[in-house]
Amino acid sequence: MEDNIILIGFMGSGKTTVGRELSQILNLPFIDTDLLIEEREGMMIRDIFRQKGEKYFRDLERKAVADVLIRKGQIISTGGGAVMNSELFSLMKDSGRVVALMANVDTLWKRLKKDKDRPLLMVDNPKGEIESLYLKRRPVYLKAHHIIWVDNKNPGAIAREILEKALPIDQLKQE
Ligand code: S3P
Repeated sequence: MEDNIILIGFMGSGKTTVGRELSQILNLPFIDTDLLIEEREGMMIRDIFRQKGEKYFRDLERKAVADVLIRKGQIISTGGGAVMNSELFSLMKDSGRVVALMANVDTLWKRLKKDKDRPLLMVDNPKGEIESLYLKRRPVYLKAHHIIWVDNKNPGAIAREILEKALPIDQLKQE
């Protein structure tokens, strides 16, 4: 396959789980850019935020995503804020099929309320923070090539839906 499949979407939308599923079905390499950043820095994302700040993280994120996009034929899962860099979002759209995993705020809150690894949600009112970030980001996610609503669906069903929408039929037959 020539293109990349790039998963975008809010924290908790299932990008990593669905990305792994897709990579197994298609037998293509899976890259999670947050994991790549952690490997490069030798530090967890929450510690990068805590010790060096969000701007430092965003610079690492821009570099990691741009580096990964140079190669093709990969399933790539990106951090939920990566698309807010418009140049990076354009690069993603040029390098393959960008698929947004969309969930409503109630689903996201259910999945994120016990989370201790998302530095942006380590605030007094995490649900309010989710709502306000979601309002800002939703219009950007909706500019993806394909939109998949994930509420009440399991990762296997979501992966199959992505294959139906994002891969041309003749490419599927070649697999
Ligand atoms: C972030 C999402 C996280 C991670 C970082 C910032 C964001 O990734 O990149 O905590 O800005 O939404 P996930 O979307 O994989 O949780």
